[in-house]
This record gives sequence, structure tokens and C-alpha cells, in this order.
Amino acid sequence: MRRVFEEMKMLIPLSLDETRWGDPKYRKQILESLDRLERAADALERHGRSREVGFDELALNLARDLREVRAHYREGAYDEARFFLTGSLQNCVSCHVRLPYEKTFPLADQLISQVEIQRLDPREKAWLYVTVRRFDDALDTWEALMRDPNGPADQLDAGGVLVDYLNVVLRVCGDIERARRALAALVERRDVPVYLERRLQIWLDALNTLDPKRFQPTTPPSLDLGVSLAEQAGEISKGPFGRDGLVHDLAAASLLVRWLESDRQKRLQRTRNPTSKEREDTARAYYWLGVVEARSLDGFWVNLSERHLEAAIRADPEGPYARPAYARLEETQVLGYGGASGSHLPADVWTNLKELRGLIGVE
Ligand code: HEC
Repeated sequence: MRRVFEEMKMLIPLSLDETRWGDPKYRKQILESLDRLERAADALERHGRSREVGFDELALNLARDLREVRAHYREGAYDEARFFLTGSLQNCVSCHVRLPYEKTFPLADQLISQVEIQRLDPREKAWLYVTVRRFDDALDTWEALMRDPNGPADQLDAGGVLVDYLNVVLRVCGDIERARRALAALVERRDVPVYLERRLQIWLDALNTLDPKRFQPTTPPSLDLGVSLAEQAGEISKGPFGRDGLVHDLAAASLLVRWLESDRQKRLQRTRNPTSKEREDTARAYYWLGVVEARSLDGFWVNLSERHLEAAIRADPEGPYARPAYARLEETQVLGYGGASGSHLPADVWTNLKELRGLIGVE
């Protein structure tokens, strides 16, 4: 991660300055840095394989985006290269919000203090803070936006600030009380639209039902609680965008990812095959994580839902979660590509679905 940061520290500020980014003077330096970055991303991908499958997917995505950056840059397509570089940062953010935060990263200042970064608008700055794991600074930035009378309240929701904020404050910091204070202050603002006032009230009620002790990074994550929160989120969510249940979804995702990580560690240490109960538990965790992610979590981020539904099938192909997981996965892909036949679906998607059907014994 250090190596990734060392390259990004130079590349991000350059990419924010169109003139310097395309200047031949920097070309050699940028290309060499992109080479090193790609190697670091490949190493991260190998590391991701020993973890819960979402990590692997994000690491693969990052490596893929960075290859695009380099290919475009090499061809002199500088705008496209910048576009992919900025896009690649979504993988950093999506990955960093998935686990609690244990230690700070003081070297982040070497990037954050650069003028190009200081000039960004607060929302972009907050994202960059998450990219380099300065989570408290990110929370402070979002909270300042929530208090800023010159920024319309509806934009906080439409621009994704509230979802980003809740992701970090709940999943990374596990700070239910801080989230409650911020939302309680926001709901008092006079310019909050009716729909949002209702939604904030629903989220506040949800925060009040969570037991902070169960979300401490040191408390072992409970699979049963994770599943139960995911089920409750489904009952709360009535709106078209599935956002009413967001707080429950985030709390569920927090526990499920952590549970899957510890499950993976246990599996790697054991020499015997998993029991049928163990396989079913793994599938259950992946299934509910996939459900939660499809509903409300990663709208404009890297969506891991399909990857998790597939993992649920592979973890226990003959168990009770395989068919429901397959049905959801197939539906997403069929609707996404506009048809269920081999002529609608791309070859790799078609082959993968066929293989999964074989595993669960459906033809
Ligand atoms: C696949 C998941 C994943 C992706 C993708 C990812 N990170 Fe990380 N990163 C982590 C985890 C987990 C940690 C904390 C544990 C560690 O240090 O390995 C971390 C730690 C860090 C740290 C702190 C290092 C330290 O020494 O304390 C920095 C800085 C960082 N990442 C930057 C980035 C940047 C920049 C990107 C995107 C270009 C990125 N990460 C992409 C998972 C990821």
C-alpha cells in the first residue's frame, strides 16, 4: 500500500493539472510511475486472494483501471488517462470503507498538503482523504458541508455526501453516536426537503436501535446479527431507491464483511474440509452481503453485489442459499444486458452462468 501511495502522491496532483499532465517534460516520469504502480497493484491483487472475495475484486479492478491509464497515456490520450486515473481511486475508497480503521497514516500529508489538493472542492477533498485513509478529516469535511448554510441541503443527498458519510462513520469508525449527532443537527435545517426530513428521521430511529457495543472493532462480528439487520433493512426500505434501510444495510455490511474475513482466516489455518454447517454459514454471509449491496450501498461505487452472490453459490452449491443467490445474480445480469440468451449476454457472462447452473444442478 505504501508503494501505491508513493506513486499516487506524485500522479494525483499532476493529473489535476491538465497542462502539466500532457507536458512532454513529465512524460517519462509519469510513464515510469505508472509502471511501478501497476506492479504494486498486481501485488495487492495477489494479496487480495487470501481474503474475502470483495477485496480480490477491488484489487483486480484497480489493476485493470491502471492498465487503462497507462495505455491511454502512452497513446497521448491524456484526457482519457486522467479519467481512468480518477476512476481508479474509487477502488481505493470502496476498499478502505469496508473494514474498521486501526492506525493512522501520517505520511498522507505529503499528498494532502499539495496546492492542487487544497484547491479541490470539499466533496472531492473528502474522497481523497478516504483514499489515503485520513478518515477523521473526511468526516470533519462532510460534517462542515452539512452545517454550511450556503450549501443547499438537498444537494447533500443528491451529491452522495450522506451515503459516503454514513459509510465511513459507521463501517470504518463504528461511531454510532457521532452519526446520530450529525444527522440530528442536519434534520433541524430549515431547507431540508420533506422527503429528506422523513428519511433522516428514519435513519435516526435506526441508529437509536443499534447497540454500539456490537460494532466496536474489538467485538467479534456476529453473523446472526448481520443477517438480522439485513433482513430488517429490507422491511424498512419502501422507497424506490432502497435508501430508507441504509443504516441497517451499512451496519449489516460492516458485520458481514468482518465475519467473512475472520471465516477466511480460519479456513486458511485449518487442514480439514469445512463441515456442511460451515459451508452454509459462509454462503449465508455472502448471500446477505450481496443482497445488501445490490439495494443501497454502492450505487455509484464499485458494486460488489454480483461477485458476492456468485461467492454464495460457490461456497455451498448444494445448500439453501445457492438457488436464491443464483436467481438474483441471473436477474441482475439478464436485466442488465436485456436478455437471457447466449446472443444477449457477453460470452464470459453466459459461460459463467452456465457453470453456476451446473454447480447447483439446474439445466
Ligand atoms: C483491495 C482493497 C484495497 C484497495 C483497492 C486499496 N487499498 Fe489501501 N489499504 C487497504 C487496507 C486493508 C489497508 C490497511 C491495512 C494495510 O496497511 O495493509 C490499506 C492501507 C492503505 C494506506 C496506509 C498504509 C500504511 O502504511 O498505513 C494507504 C496510504 C493506502 N492504503 C492507499 C491506497 C490507495 C491510494 C489506493 C488506490 C490507488 C488503495 N489504497 C487501494 C486496502 C486497499
